Amino acid sequence: MHDNYKSTEFSDIDLSRWKDYDDVILDSLWLLGPRDKTGPHVGDYWGNFIPQIPHQVLTRFTKRGEVVVDLFSGMGTTLIECKRLGRAGLGVEIDPGVAERSLERINCAENPSNVPVAVLVGDSTTALTAKRVRATLREWGADAADCVILHPPYHDIIRFSELEGDLSRVPTEAAFLDKISLVAQHAYDLLKSAGFMALVIGDKYVDSRLVPLGFMCMQRCVDAGFVLKAINVKEILNNERGKGKNGNLWKYRALVGGFYLFKHEYVMIFRKPAARGKRA
Ligand SMILES: C[S@@+](CC[C@H](N)C(=O)[O-])C[C@H]1O[C@@H](n2cnc3c(N)ncnc32)[C@H](O)[C@@H]1O
Repeated sequence: MHDNYKSTEFSDIDLSRWKDYDDVILDSLWLLGPRDKTGPHVGDYWGNFIPQIPHQVLTRFTKRGEVVVDLFSGMGTTLIECKRLGRAGLGVEIDPGVAERSLERINCAENPSNVPVAVLVGDSTTALTAKRVRATLREWGADAADCVILHPPYHDIIRFSELEGDLSRVPTEAAFLDKISLVAQHAYDLLKSAGFMALVIGDKYVDSRLVPLGFMCMQRCVDAGFVLKAINVKEILNNERGKGKNGNLWKYRALVGGFYLFKHEYVMIFRKPAARGKRA
């Protein structure tokens, strides 16, 4: 660190060198290019996000040594990035088999700062899981998470498991949104004052009708008390979500049905308001 080093309270980005950070995204259109497949990052889990997403979020909204909670950790993409960037990472995943496989990968990631990383098997909508997350944070010497990441199922677009509590098998949109409200409330409670949360989510079509799932979930987060900071649109590359490889057939269907093929999803950024007497 040099004499002119100056930063915000929520990131290590050196503001005295702000022009040098070409790799940090400041625009709302996220064209991240192909998936980063370095190290243990493998894109074989249907529904995992590309590592560049947590990389960007952690770089902008956390400091080295801080604690990140991912309430839908899947194959551990966030937690692998945590290790690489020197942040402690705690994931929650409902499927024990997925959690176990993710740990095998996470354990292969380099950990130059020797940060703790763990995955709890649990349902992120429940108070019991929130309690277990808090207990682990305490074991790590933290009162609260510094940053929370949510990458839930986009309702039933991909069926992840048949497990009770899996958000991809909730029968209706209304019930799904109510579950998102529960997760948003737990995220809010687990997050420190003035901490940031990222929600990664896409929309869906049902019966020739577009369901703006992203904006519906966004509203649930705002209702939980979060301040909306950004709606970033991320390009989806080579990923016809839920459509298999038969891209041409879907183009035909889009023409016939009067709709457009999804080529984007959202990375929404929220902030918990600062507690009274604290600066945000
Ligand atoms: C979109 S994926 C997240 C993928 C993750 N970001 C990655 O890169 O691997 C959603 C994950 O949430 C899990 N899940 C579904 N319902 C859950 C719940 N109620 N609590 C915790 N995890 C849940 C699914 O098993 C799935 O692995």
